[in-house]
Amino acid sequence: MAALSQQTVIAVVGAGAMGAGIAQVAAAAGHPVKLLDNRPDAAARAVAGIRAQFARLAEKGRMSAEAAAAAGDRLIPVHELAHLADAGLVVEAIVEDLEAKQTLYRDLEHIVGPECIFGTNTSSISVTAIGAALKRPERLAGLHFFNPAPLMALVEIVSGLATDRTVADTLFATASAWCKTPVHAKSTPGFIVNRVARPYYGEALRLLHEGAADCATIDACCREAGGFRMGPFELMDMIGHDVNFAVTQSVWKAFFNDPRFLPSLLQQELVAAGFLGKKSGRGFHDYREGAVPPLPASESARPAPATIALCGDSPATAALAARLAERGVSFSHRAAGDGRIAEADGVALYVTDGRSATRRAFASGVAATVLVDLALDYAKAGRLAIAVADQCADPAPAIGLLQAAGLAVSRFADVPGLAVMRAVAMLANEAADAVNQGVCDAAGADAAMRLGVNYPRGPLAWADGIGLENIRDVLANLGQTYGEDRYRISPLIQQKVFAGKKFHD
Ligand SMILES: NC(=O)c1ccc[n+]([C@@H]2O[C@H](COP(=O)([O-])OP(=O)(O)OC[C@H]3O[C@@H](n4cnc5c(N)ncnc54)[C@H](O)[C@@H]3O)[C@@H](O)[C@H]2O)c1
Repeated sequence: MAALSQQTVIAVVGAGAMGAGIAQVAAAAGHPVKLLDNRPDAAARAVAGIRAQFARLAEKGRMSAEAAAAAGDRLIPVHELAHLADAGLVVEAIVEDLEAKQTLYRDLEHIVGPECIFGTNTSSISVTAIGAALKRPERLAGLHFFNPAPLMALVEIVSGLATDRTVADTLFATASAWCKTPVHAKSTPGFIVNRVARPYYGEALRLLHEGAADCATIDACCREAGGFRMGPFELMDMIGHDVNFAVTQSVWKAFFNDPRFLPSLLQQELVAAGFLGKKSGRGFHDYREGAVPPLPASESARPAPATIALCGDSPATAALAARLAERGVSFSHRAAGDGRIAEADGVALYVTDGRSATRRAFASGVAATVLVDLALDYAKAGRLAIAVADQCADPAPAIGLLQAAGLAVSRFADVPGLAVMRAVAMLANEAADAVNQGVCDAAGADAAMRLGVNYPRGPLAWADGIGLENIRDVLANLGQTYGEDRYRISPLIQQKVFAGKKFHD
């Protein structure tokens, strides 16, 4: 399917943060762009702002002065819907309200030509529901940009129940021509990104609620071991708790209160207190003047142990063993079911499989059991979280071992799954369900999470690397511990394990 030609007039309705960004993208791609807002002068001000943006890009050498001037000239502020009669695409970025969006597109149906297509930038409203108000709902699809639109590569192309496939394909090709990375999605709550990302916040909130560690420590583990650009608490503080809590609630309600998406009482309290994050000076962290950013908790230095056993055969265990070996740290490596794991080994160290260390020690009969969290890349990790079995008298050998390999060690309370493993297993589980339910394909889910929220790896590719049977075990163990449907294993993960397949073969 061909992209809309550069001669096609693009109309953008709503000249706020998103509308202005989308207009900038379309004008830079060579289209005449008409911008409309119902606030007087908002469109003209947005056009002036975008032109200034083009001039700045030219100053920085990112576009030529001629191209910047030409792109600026292609922007036309307009004041009435009637001025959009010649548009080939109307992108809507107005207030997030179903009735307002339906009214706008219903009015536009009387104004634009039969070939004109409609792309709504809604983040959370059903594209099917917006389309239901139209005479020809087949011409409407979601065209979901991320903020800031000129910088973020991802665009979700969302098909409602009535959306014509050629409309979705035209938008897909057009977004590609605009130098974006589009992914197809079905109109379901949260589409891809706002759905699959929920566990990154939700599981961290649970860890905090259960006293696993403080926010700064969980954040540091997610960054320094998980490779996430921001920890969950600093990210929620940046997004704003009013916004993040509203999205969580809307996805939870839209999925008929599925416990997967259950909102957190801790976050509700923050919203009630007006501690909305960075913008209000206070959230999980304190941003007021003079506030000292908290440091993550790290264990004090311990000597490297004489004997210690790293147990297990998973790819994560092998990668941790490689890090220890590369740093010249001495340890023995035992298979998980190896009967030789015994007190003589000093401490038995495992990568978490979703059981608590205490439960694992009980199962193996080895009191001195310590668990280590997952790392994106053990060779590069700067910090690892550990959990110590209640039966273990002295975890110092495990701490000393990891420190000898150059790692900072954060001791968590003995919660199942720790921070990174729990987050990644649940992110992969959600992505797998989205694929299983036909919302997107595996490549689309991974691209969406890498480009829409900057994850260091797509959750399904990440799960492939960890081993899907290991992800299944983590989820099963979490489910057994909590007894909640929240941790039910996606049928697609189970299916892949039985078939010996991966998401990306
Ligand atoms: N801000 C984000 O991070 C983000 C990201 C992706 C999608 N979205 C979605 O994009 C849309 C716009 O969000 P935003 O953050 O740009 O909001 P915003 O408040 O910055 O801008 C909305 C603009 O639309 C105008 N407007 C409202 N109703 C109108 C109408 N009936 N006709 C014409 N103009 C109207 C307002 O005057 C305002 O200028 C929403 O649907 C939102 O959910 C937002």
